[in-house]
Amino acid sequence: MSSLHHRHLAVSPEWLALYYRHPLELTHGEGRHVWDADGNRYLDFFGGILTTMTAHALPEVTKAVSEQAARIIHSSTLYLNRPMIELAERVASLSGIPDARVFFTTSGTEANDTALLLATTYRRSNQILAMRNSYHGRSFSAVSITGNNAWSPTSLSPLQTLYVHGGVRTRGPYAHLSDEEFTAACVADLEDLLGHTRAPAALIAEPIQGVGGFTSPPDGLYGAFREVLDRHGVLWISDEVQTGWGRSGEHFWGWQAHAQNGPPDILTFAKGIGNGMSIGGVVARAEVMNCLDANSISTFGGSPVTMAAGLANLSYLLEHDLQGNARRVGGLLIERLRAIGATSERVREVRGRGLMIGVELVKPGTDEADPEAAAAVLEAAREGGLLIGKGGGHNTSVLRIAPPLSLAIPEAEEGAEILADALREVG
Ligand SMILES: Cc1ncc(COP(=O)(O)O)c(C=O)c1O
Repeated sequence: MSSLHHRHLAVSPEWLALYYRHPLELTHGEGRHVWDADGNRYLDFFGGILTTMTAHALPEVTKAVSEQAARIIHSSTLYLNRPMIELAERVASLSGIPDARVFFTTSGTEANDTALLLATTYRRSNQILAMRNSYHGRSFSAVSITGNNAWSPTSLSPLQTLYVHGGVRTRGPYAHLSDEEFTAACVADLEDLLGHTRAPAALIAEPIQGVGGFTSPPDGLYGAFREVLDRHGVLWISDEVQTGWGRSGEHFWGWQAHAQNGPPDILTFAKGIGNGMSIGGVVARAEVMNCLDANSISTFGGSPVTMAAGLANLSYLLEHDLQGNARRVGGLLIERLRAIGATSERVREVRGRGLMIGVELVKPGTDEADPEAAAAVLEAAREGGLLIGKGGGHNTSVLRIAPPLSLAIPEAEEGAEILADALREVG
């Protein structure tokens, strides 16, 4: 055990999980590569949990951060803040939400917490509908809308949460149905649930479940839900913490795959926008955002340095059409991975879109999740020079692949080769 690992264990909570038998200390990065303290180079296909969105050490972001830091690092939300207003304007117009207002936080958890505060206050209800297998953050309120018990350490909550079907297409009671029947069954279930409840405040959903193993319903499900929710006055919160900014390739936001009845009432974002600087936020139409009748501030939310990073990062993303790159290179990568998966008895499914790809592993010849195999493939990939993530429902048996959106084709091919070798090695 390295001495840093030893010191980590001595001082950190036991539930703060580290990847790998010999955890890595990453010391620097460039583009789609990172280096560890021993000088080993890795292709980074996880981006610090989908957060290094454009590239490591992107000069445009580094420059914006250092120039802003040299001017003023902090002022608080008590003063006018030019980079914050500029980023809010850009996010508002990209959001698709009419008359949008934007509030910046420092994490996805805090963004969802704010969304819950808005929805429950606006609707005068503490009931929330959430999806099974969901993940929305680590705070007391966020874990209480998390439909994945591996990430929800308590059922105590200020909210009453009811879990809805539909986030997982290929497992669960409706898995055998066609897409159309699946959607109809989930909509009927929601309708039935609403007939038995009081008046829920909102439904919160990740368009593609991240921690849950990159699972998603058929396109249009949340749009179909929207029609039912509208009839009952229930708000729709789209958690875009992982799916935002074009990662899914086809859409800038995940909700756009479910857009037939308009945009969500509330959208939350975080992770990629800051390229590692801590930015989260919530967008809502003015009527919803302004429903609080007490003051609220965020000491660190919207801090000038993070906002400068966000602006530079977003400009780079849009000017270089990284959404298009995610669609093209992600399309090629998923095809490669499907071809590799077809040769392995362990691979149950390769799914996802853009640069958000899940490879679900099972015990050979069964449908049983295999978390040990997922951990072994993660190790073998690391030894081969590739960092990936893992996730998925009750058992963490899905490999998660989510590189920076600037991934080049040769890098996608190299990563796929390393993963193929890792799968072969685990057998
Ligand atoms: C969909 C989703 N929502 C919210 C969060 C919480 O974000 P944070 O870790 O920045 O608090 C996460 C984190 O993984 C997430 O994946």
